[in-house]
Amino acid sequence: MKPINVGLLGIGTVGGGTHAVLTRNQEEITRRAGRPIQIVAVADRNVERARELVGADVTVTDDAFSLVKDPNIDIIVELIGGYTTALDLVMMAIENGKHVVTANKALLAVHGNEIFAAAQRKGVMVAFEAAVAGGIPIIKALREGLSANRIQWLAGIINGTTNFILSEMRDKGLSFETVLKEAQRLGYAEADPTFDIEGIDAAHKATLMASIAFGIPVQFDKAHVEGISSLDAIDIKYAEQLGYRIKLLGIAKRQVNGVELRVHPTLIPTKRLIANVEGAMNAVLVQGDAVGATLYYGKGAGAEPTASAVIADLVDVTRLATADPQNRVPHLAFQPDQLSDLPILPLEEVETACYLRLRALDKPGVLADVTRILADLNISIEAMIQNEPAEGEDHADVVLLTHVAREKDINAAIHKIEALQSIHGKVTRIRMEALNG
Ligand code: HSE
Repeated sequence: MKPINVGLLGIGTVGGGTHAVLTRNQEEITRRAGRPIQIVAVADRNVERARELVGADVTVTDDAFSLVKDPNIDIIVELIGGYTTALDLVMMAIENGKHVVTANKALLAVHGNEIFAAAQRKGVMVAFEAAVAGGIPIIKALREGLSANRIQWLAGIINGTTNFILSEMRDKGLSFETVLKEAQRLGYAEADPTFDIEGIDAAHKATLMASIAFGIPVQFDKAHVEGISSLDAIDIKYAEQLGYRIKLLGIAKRQVNGVELRVHPTLIPTKRLIANVEGAMNAVLVQGDAVGATLYYGKGAGAEPTASAVIADLVDVTRLATADPQNRVPHLAFQPDQLSDLPILPLEEVETACYLRLRALDKPGVLADVTRILADLNISIEAMIQNEPAEGEDHADVVLLTHVAREKDINAAIHKIEALQSIHGKVTRIRMEALNG
């Protein structure tokens, strides 16, 4: 059977892994796909290294645009990353009638609507399993495996770098800055870790999952994004005392009037399986009305785990390449003319329980003032701890867990609590999720 020809844009970590796994498992992959999948050309800035990796039979160039124009190439695998050149290359590949496989979550979360529309017009596929949670087949699960369900919510640990940092902070009682430096020294965190630690990478992934789960256009610009850089180790300790762990979660939740789409540090009960996902591992919990809760766990990054997802897409595209475009799996799981205009809700409308930590003067009536503010806003308290002031200090940490309340009311309460004479400094707020299906 005639092989399907692949042009690889970028042969760094994931590209190298893709070449290695395709070569190693060639026979089994061909038996699955129905025809050989072969990398015929590679574009990379480092031509010499690329040549060493792929050998003499594969065309190697530093001109990625030559691959997207090459009539001999059926599928472009985009592993360059970023929003600029990658966008031009993907759009040009589509215009030239090529299918695209990409691991580029940033590109799809920001430009996905125009990319999918162009692919629809040209009758080509854009597959992106590797863009979310690396080797975990979460896109396939949401798009196909769960297609009987009305998906109610999903919550994921979808950034390994931040999960590694949070695990180390908890295990060793270290500060964020100390662990970040160590993670960079060990090569776990990028030299510029902004996308990871500020929650942007997780928000890209949550945006894509929300679109597939609820059949809405990609709307990264409406996501609430908060990272872990201002998280204090003391809050991890207090959370632990109360039976919770703090994880950076990407959350997408269907409400009657819209969709919640948010990334932020979150307290989750320690007894949930997902709370025990440690180190750089990823996991996504999905709640469907028919199936109930399902949990997907695995490596969210790395050469071969991510290559596993890239190659699964290559197999899918190969199998469906000759099918009528109308009968293929829609890019966002729902037929393109059936996407919903359900809005992304503003954060003020979101309802969650909250962890609040305040430094209160240790004298009669202070807690009464705080609880009165909460009661007046109809915010109910679920649990509370207060430590004795440290020696020589007159303020003590008070930690309150609230029942579910509207963000707008919690904001108003925090504002009023911070204005009390007896409260020192800012109130720390961390949202909570029960994740109990
Ligand atoms: N930087 C990501 C992470 C992996 O730390 O999980 C690629 O998406």
